[in-house]
Parts: sequence; C-alpha cells; structure tokens
Amino acid sequence: MAILNILRYPDPRLRRIAQPVTEVDGGVRALIENMAETMYNAPGIGLAAIQVEVPRRIIVIDVAEHRDELQVFINPRIVEHGGIQIMEEGCLSVPGIFEPVERARRILVRALDQDGREFEREAEGLLAVCIAHEIDHLDGKVFVDYLSRLKQSRIRKKLEKQEKLAM
Ligand code: NI
Repeated sequence: MAILNILRYPDPRLRRIAQPVTEVDGGVRALIENMAETMYNAPGIGLAAIQVEVPRRIIVIDVAEHRDELQVFINPRIVEHGGIQIMEEGCLSVPGIFEPVERARRILVRALDQDGREFEREAEGLLAVCIAHEIDHLDGKVFVDYLSRLKQSRIRKKLEKQEKLAM
C-alpha cells in the first residue's frame, strides 16, 4: 500500500472529467487500497481518484466515528434525490477551508462494488453530502465552485500563497 499525492486546488488536473471503469480488476482494487490509505492518513472522510491524479470514476468514503466503515463506489450515479440541507464542507484538495454548501438531504446512489457487482445505497445527512461532493470531483467540480466569486478568489490566493511558502 502507498500514500498517494493529493492534488491541490486550483490545480487544473482537478478539472478533468473522470472516465468510467470498464473492468474492476486487480489494478483497480490496488488503487482503491491506496486511496483508502491516503484518505485515512490525511485524515479525511472521502477521496476521489481524480484527486490522486487518476481520472477514473472511483471514490472511497468513511464517515464512521471510529473510521472502520470503508465505502467504495465505482462508477457512482445519483439516481434519486430529495430535500435540501446546508452543511459546512471541506476537501483534502482545499486544505484549511470550510464553507457551507447546499445539497440534497437524501440520495439514492447506484454504483459497482470492489467485486464489480452493482448495488444501490440510500444515504442522508453527512453521507449524502460526502457522496455528492465526491461525485462532483469525478465531473471536474470542487465544492469551492458553489461559493461566491469573491470567496473563490480569496481561497485561490490563500492556497497559492501557502504553496509558495511550502516550496
Ligand atoms: Ni473533495
């Protein structure tokens, strides 16, 4: 297993559209293991493959208090959604920034598991937010996109400054 490099906003590679996984093979499972290790190490509650420079439709999530309920979604799609909730979001690609975002309160997601089998899962609250946030990544979107232009430019400048200081 390995800790992977996480791309940081506003890296243009976060804007790529991830491609569907056509076969869930050993390579995909190895990537998932590394993504999970990277997420737990960060630490974070969700990670999309695009954030570790792999433009494929794969996400890992663990919103459990004890960090022992890994959820894997391959080629995930939200097929139903309802209600509205506003939750403060953060992102491993946007370190140190937390802002409220409005999303669906409940979703029904359809995806493949690590054995390539299709499943459906209902989610609400934090898990629903997390799944929607990670699926956004697969479509080249970052939660910052939902904020005002002024906030977006402040966040961009702040992160670019941090990047320079770190070099
Ligand atoms: Ni994120």
